[in-house]
Formats: sequence, structure tokens, C-alpha cells
Amino acid sequence: NRYIWLSRHGESQYNLEGKIGGDAKLSPRGEKYSVKLVELVNKYIPNHDKLEVWTSTLKRTQQTAQFLPFPQKQWKALDELDAGSCDGLTYEEIAVKFPEDFKARDDNKFEYRYPGGESYRDVITRLEPIIMALENQENVLVITHQAVLRCIYAYFMNVHQEESPWMSIPLHTLIRLEIKAYGTQVTRIKADI
Ligand code: F6P
Repeated sequence: NRYIWLSRHGESQYNLEGKIGGDAKLSPRGEKYSVKLVELVNKYIPNHDKLEVWTSTLKRTQQTAQFLPFPQKQWKALDELDAGSCDGLTYEEIAVKFPEDFKARDDNKFEYRYPGGESYRDVITRLEPIIMALENQENVLVITHQAVLRCIYAYFMNVHQEESPWMSIPLHTLIRLEIKAYGTQVTRIKADI
């Protein structure tokens, strides 16, 4: 059977502050996850000697992968949903500064595009090469971001793409997708940190 392994980056400084987007470094807890991830990979990923690790071009995913002794590939297409003018703000700040946008996103989170940024639909479009590559490969661990993982996850779970924004992808959890002819089976391995 074919497996695809997914993980969000460890908790970032921005996650702690409730800010979206940016290119923050990991928090101390996020750094613990990057250490723990080596253990999880060794324990749970069979044939990890042949593993390839894919990250985004952002610091927090590369820092999360820093102790994994496997070939690594950075993809711009794996960068987090671009929040445009809202980048670096908290949801509370967005509600105050851009009340109409805040409401529009609430009304249609899938189609809503941040001013100068992206929508979930846009992310799915730019993920096409990644999805195609994942369809042809096994033994890949993809370390990326919440919105991006929701889209990849929905795709492999055969969930309608419009539902992508509501997939639950918690921090500090290694997700195993077992791709089978009749559907995908998920196992979530929570890091104890
Ligand atoms: O808060 C972390 C984060 O990855 C942000 O950078 C991103 O904008 C957000 O999650 C995506 O989640 P949602 O679509 O629920 O706002």
C-alpha cells in the first residue's frame, strides 16, 4: 500500500500571537516538535531510509524539518495561503480594520480572496503540480501549512474541494494517509510534547 505523510510545521511565534501569514520562526514548543518529529519518523514510517521531505520556502517548515536526515525539497507552491493586506494581523485586527472582508470571508471562506492575496480555490489551483507529483510517489513527508494541508487532505480524502477550509489539521500531529483503491484511510499520530 501507498502512504503519504503530512505534518504542519511546529508552532510558530505567529501562531502563539494569533497572527496569520508571515515568515516567523518556531516557538520553543515548535522547536521541541522538530526534535520529536525525528523520533516519530523513525518509529512510524516504514522504509524511512528512502524518505523524501518536502517543505515550503518559509522558515517555519524548514526549521521543522531541520533534524530530518533525508533529502529535502522546497516548493514555493507549498507556501501558506497568501493573506495579502491582512498578512501579519490577528483575526480581531482584521475584523476591526477590514470589517467587510471579515464578513465576506465568513460568508464564503472557500471563494474569499484576501485583498492582494489568495483564496482556498487559488491555493488548490497552485497545488496541482504538487498533487500530481504526490500521485506518482510514495515515501514523501510533506511539511507545510494549515490551509495548504487542508487542501491536500481534502483531495486525498475525496472530500469536495469546497469543504477544504474546514478540514481539521492540528499542530504537532503526523498524519498518515494510506491510499487504497477504494478510498484513503487516515491515521493521526499526536506528538507528546
Ligand atoms: O494561523 C495559521 C494559519 O496558517 C495562517 O497563516 C493562515 O492564514 C490560516 O492559518 C489559515 O486558516 P484559516 O483559513 O482558518 O484562517
